[in-house]
Formats: sequence, structure tokens, C-alpha cells
Amino acid sequence: MNDSESLITDQEFALFQRLIYRLAGISLSDAKRVLLVGRLGRRLKYYGYESYTQYYRLLASGEHPDELQLMVDLLTTNETYFFREPQHFDFLRELLQKEQRSTGNFRIWSGASSSGEEAYSMAMTLAEYRQEGSWEVFGSDISMSILARAQAGLYSLERTSGIPQEQLRKYCLKGVRSQSGKLLIDNSLKRYVKFAQVNLTQPISGVGEFDVIFLRNVMIYFDAETKRKVVHNMLPSLKPDGYFIVGHAESLNGITDRLRLLRPTIYRKSV
Ligand SMILES: C[S@@+](CC[C@H](N)C(=O)[O-])C[C@H]1O[C@@H](n2cnc3c(N)ncnc32)[C@H](O)[C@@H]1O
Repeated sequence: MNDSESLITDQEFALFQRLIYRLAGISLSDAKRVLLVGRLGRRLKYYGYESYTQYYRLLASGEHPDELQLMVDLLTTNETYFFREPQHFDFLRELLQKEQRSTGNFRIWSGASSSGEEAYSMAMTLAEYRQEGSWEVFGSDISMSILARAQAGLYSLERTSGIPQEQLRKYCLKGVRSQSGKLLIDNSLKRYVKFAQVNLTQPISGVGEFDVIFLRNVMIYFDAETKRKVVHNMLPSLKPDGYFIVGHAESLNGITDRLRLLRPTIYRKSV
């Protein structure tokens, strides 16, 4: 055991494992001790605490909802990038080509949007095929700090290499002065992308219905029971015949019979 691991006892680690599971459905394996200490250590320092038990008591008292949210924010993993898993955007293009003549509002949900790269990649794709005002992207996440970044739509230039040149030119602005080295998503695109906090393990209401849902690279943190709950919570918001897309390392095998596999990682709702 190294120094940072020894700062937390087995019992304390188990308390945090249960807490993050209860709040977000995230299963933290024993191998994540170092990660937890690395991420929450600074909160102990902030409060001048000497043990994780003291910090746990503060969280469990129910009197500090902001600190509880911060702890969730710190324990979630937010890695993402523009046009990640490009085959899903190819699929979206195929779909949009077929639907081009339909006049209704085409709505897509980025169900664990992180800092917004997935939602803006969807928006850049939709803007190519749909008439202005006939599409919408909704991005949601459990982490409030990551949602604030998504809403800002400001990214460091080196993180934007996945954006094709044409889309870069059309929908992104190069930051100047205090924002130099950054890229800002243009308002002409941003206005069709809304973000809000949604905890997928809780009943979901008020989000409307979607033609396509992306739920990528979050179910890897969930056990089968949580996956079932999350899919059950989201499915009422997917239109009959709508598409549900998961990450390449994820599968809904044995999770629901309301979705049938169309091709690897792409499911369609059975009516
Ligand atoms: C690795 S990111 C995935 C980002 C993006 N979908 C992608 O594939 O690039 C996982 C996100 O899931 C979010 N998350 C974890 N548990 C959640 C829950 N119970 N409800 C909503 N979002 C959750 C995290 O905050 C994090 O931003």
C-alpha cells in the first residue's frame, strides 16, 4: 500500500463507495482507492480535517447539499471529445439523410453530456441536414460543474482537433485576448443546444420526447441493476422507433427487451 492509499481506511473507503452508489449509481471498485483519495483529498485540506470519517460525517449530516454535489462532481469521470466514436455520427448522417423531408422537430438527447463536446458534435451534424429551427439537442449530466463548462461552450484549441475543418469554420469562433488559445461555439449553433442537470438513476420528467438518445461511456460505471434502472427511466422519453446508442465498450445485453440491436452499439425501440 502506498502513502496516499493509507490515508483512507477500508471502512472509510466502503462508506464512500456506498454513498456514491446511492447518489449516482456509480460502482467504485476497490482499485479506485487512489482515485478517491486523489480527488477528495483537497476537500479534507479545505476543511482542515484529518480523516475521511470527518468529511463523511459532514456529507451525511444532510446540512451541506452543495458539498454533496461537489463530491459527486469530483468523483465522476468526465473524459470526452468532439466526434468521439465517429461511426455514430456517420449513422446519424445516414438517418438525417433519410428523414430530410420530414418537417417535425428532430430532437436528440446526449444523456451523459459531460462538458458538451458530444452535444455540440450532434448539433454540428444536425445543422448540416435540418432546416433552421427544426431540430434541438438536449445535453444532461449529474455534475453541475461540468454542465457549467458545457453551457459556456469554450474549449482549448488542442481539444478541438476532432472537429472537421468545414464545421470549425462555420460554427466556431477563435478566442481573442483573454480567450486566446480557446475556441468558442458560435451562438448560431448554441441556441439550439440546451443543458440541464439530470440524474439518470432517478425518475425523469419534463424532458420531452427524442428521436435519438446517445448514452455513451457512462454505463461502464454502472452495475447491471443500475443499468436496468437508467434504461427504464430513459425509455419513456424515446419515441416509438427511436434510436438508442451506447459506447463501444458497453452493451444492453440482458438489460431490456424494449430495445433491439440494429448493429453493434445501436439499438432501436420496439413498439
Ligand atoms: C466519461 S463521460 C461521457 C461523456 C460522453 N457521453 C462521451 O461519450 O464522450 C461520463 C459522464 O457521465 C456522468 N454521469 C455519471 N453518473 C451519472 C448519473 N447517475 N446521471 C447522469 N450523469 C452521470 C458523469 O458526470 C460524466 O460527465
